[in-house]
Amino acid sequence: MPFTYLSHLECSGCGTTHDASTWQGLCACGQPLLARYDLERLAEHVSPQGFASRRPTLWRYHELLPVTDAEHAISLGEGVTPLTPLPRLAKELGLGRLHLKDEGLLPTGTFKARGASVGVSRARELGRRRIAMPTNGNAGAAWATYAARADCEALIVMPVDAPLITRSECVATGARLVLVDGLIGDAGAMVARAVADEGWTDVSTLKEPYRLEGKKTMGLELFEQLGWRVPDVIIYPTGGGVGLIGIFKALRELQALGWLSQPKMPRLVAVQAEGCAPVVRAFDNGDTQTSPWEDAHTVAFGITVPKPLGDRLILDAIRQTNGCAIAVSDEELLADVRLLARLEGVFACPEGAATVSAARRLRAEGWLSEDDEVVLLNTGSGLKYPDAVVAEAPILQPGEPIPIELVGSTAG
Ligand SMILES: Cc1ncc(COP(=O)(O)O)c(C=O)c1O
Repeated sequence: MPFTYLSHLECSGCGTTHDASTWQGLCACGQPLLARYDLERLAEHVSPQGFASRRPTLWRYHELLPVTDAEHAISLGEGVTPLTPLPRLAKELGLGRLHLKDEGLLPTGTFKARGASVGVSRARELGRRRIAMPTNGNAGAAWATYAARADCEALIVMPVDAPLITRSECVATGARLVLVDGLIGDAGAMVARAVADEGWTDVSTLKEPYRLEGKKTMGLELFEQLGWRVPDVIIYPTGGGVGLIGIFKALRELQALGWLSQPKMPRLVAVQAEGCAPVVRAFDNGDTQTSPWEDAHTVAFGITVPKPLGDRLILDAIRQTNGCAIAVSDEELLADVRLLARLEGVFACPEGAATVSAARRLRAEGWLSEDDEVVLLNTGSGLKYPDAVVAEAPILQPGEPIPIELVGSTAG
């Protein structure tokens, strides 16, 4: 049996078919390419129940991933991440069933490990050993890490304001790191020049088709964890939108395979920050693509993407599932970093905590009902954002008594 059922690439814009056996970037029409599989043949040989006995990494879904030879699957044991019930937070928000898919437990501490594992694997399999990308930090750290594992070179360009730790991850893993005093679009322009002049391979968001396949496994895993069924709502912090598009792609593939127990779609929600909400604006205006967001800024740095390349795909996924797009403030999401940690013991990244803020607003507006089963995506660990919580504590000299307000009994 083949390791993959990858058959071809298809343009998400004009539908043109492209050869998947050689390296491809964007379609000539400028839109991203999507990996397509021979699902009919796959369904004859693979059954969803079989996955449970495989090793718990995203490579358990290898038939639905683009790598041809198992030898080329570059792995650090990524996945399967927990689907954690949030009973206390659910009560606080007025929801019945609330779960968190916690991607903070992946290698490099974010869901970016999924795209990097699959993307680096396929790039190397197709002979691409020098990869370059712009990033808001976390993706760069993940790709640098997997590039090191794959013995490939990485050139990473990130805004100077990206989370500090992601710089260290790039340097530690031997990547070439450049900081730009600007936003991710500025980094992208610099990468494009290095690609044209110095022969690097551009692995920018959606400019190659395989990162998306890695992100797709978030959806595959989630639906497997739910017993091959879907929740009512999935709330996702959206920047470039690759995770959201990937979950939607997983849904479509599983439906085509006939592996889901119900025909219903989960409503997909894109959460953005009020300081950078191009998808929300386009959704509200009924547009099919975004216009660039001016003066983008938010503490949820990973979702600072003023003009996502995959905007049509994001908006399409939201609309086809009867979902919505919503913006939340930095104050709300920072407060929710602490609330989630205090009530449920999950220290999430600000982007992940934004899904809590969104759930609260959507419940207050009546868009979510108490009966809805809701899944929040925490895309990364709070450990990557140590400044998101101000930690105040008294500093005492040895032998000094601990202040009474800290040790005093609350038992009464
Ligand atoms: C922690 C975190 N969450 C969410 C995102 C947004 O990712 P996507 O491209 O899937 O929208 C990013 C992207 O950098 C991120 O680092």
